[in-house]
Amino acid sequence: MSSLGGRRVLLVVSGGIAAYKSVMLVRLLRRAGARVDVVMTSSAERMVGVATFEALTGRPVFTDLWTEPLAHIELGREADLAVVAPATANILARMAHGLADDMATSTLLAAACPILVCPAMNLRMWANPATRENMRTLRSNGVHVVGPEEGELAEGEEGPGRMSEPDDIFQVAARLLVGKSGLAGRKVVVTAGPTLAPLDPVRFVGNRSSGRMGIALAMAAWTRGAEVTLIAGPTSVQPPHGPKVVRVETSEDMGRALETELDDASVLIMAAAVSDFVVDHPSETKIKKAGAEGLELRLEPGPDLLAETRKQRASRGILTLGFALETDDPIGNAMKKLSAKGLDLIAVNEAGRPDRGVDAETNQVTLIDSEGVVVEFPLMQKTEVAERLLDHLEERLS
Ligand code: CTP
Repeated sequence: MSSLGGRRVLLVVSGGIAAYKSVMLVRLLRRAGARVDVVMTSSAERMVGVATFEALTGRPVFTDLWTEPLAHIELGREADLAVVAPATANILARMAHGLADDMATSTLLAAACPILVCPAMNLRMWANPATRENMRTLRSNGVHVVGPEEGELAEGEEGPGRMSEPDDIFQVAARLLVGKSGLAGRKVVVTAGPTLAPLDPVRFVGNRSSGRMGIALAMAAWTRGAEVTLIAGPTSVQPPHGPKVVRVETSEDMGRALETELDDASVLIMAAAVSDFVVDHPSETKIKKAGAEGLELRLEPGPDLLAETRKQRASRGILTLGFALETDDPIGNAMKKLSAKGLDLIAVNEAGRPDRGVDAETNQVTLIDSEGVVVEFPLMQKTEVAERLLDHLEERLS
């Protein structure tokens, strides 16, 4: 999770059932170090208690314009970001028309910071031409929007209207809060997860990989303002909202996606566990068990994607970070890979330890650069490893 230490978020909660999800959003923002001030509409108070938000934020919650007559000006002036979650059709209409008829809308009208709205309503309210027009107005006024998502709605209907999940809102909010970094506006391509080599239409040879490290890197780069493409094999972890995701299965698919995506990229982070082997002559039909005793598979080396993209990367000056998973002499082997594959940096971790690498949520990596400088990181959450690796990439870019 990115660090939002010192950043101030104004959370406006209006009266949608999804108000309970905003409780989780507060926790995510607080955990990342942000200060959160909550303003609730009178309808929101019917959904979630003031005490819940007060306990989670450690700050008073504002519901009435007249309790502290200048609070709406101060809150709007001090915040780095205002998030309206859930944003009902009613509050969106009031915002679009510049109304200031309660504490929530007065604070938003006086806000000097970016505003992010998270619409949540019935599907027909969302589709109503009046709401469409209000959303157009808000967007053209520079208001940021996340959601709504399609899915089951409170009344048992299905369609667009569900508020986005707290994790996704958090990521968008973090991107708006972190602001400019050395990666802002640059294209970063990240590969993640395994690739599979089919042996018949239902079976494959592949590497173990959850995709967690690559996804953490993609999200961290996206939060820093980069334009991110995540080329992902079949990962067990779902990529969250934000980066463009290109799904692939085989190493060849990943190679093709890389060739296209690298065209206008500044950075490549190759975290995928690319299958090194392809099956020689995979069967076009399912290999039946009967009669398959002593079945032998012939494997051939598959494409080395870093080697294949070396020319393209060099000619475009793409800063490249590769990974190495090693069982023996990690530093020595990683250094060899760094020079053989034409990398700027390589992050190496040891295979076969349950607290790091494949499938784990934590990782311990050592970063080596092309000048031979070795930096050993402690065992950390993969999200923290991602932040540290991006700090190094940003340093190189500057
Ligand atoms: N890689 C690649 N294409 C492959 C295999 C790996 O581009 N066919 C990339 C990985 O994404 C990683 C780096 O190369 O960034 C090193 O991967 P690793 O599996 O450690 O090395 P290999 O080249 O496969 O060498 P070996 O398996 O012999 O250790």
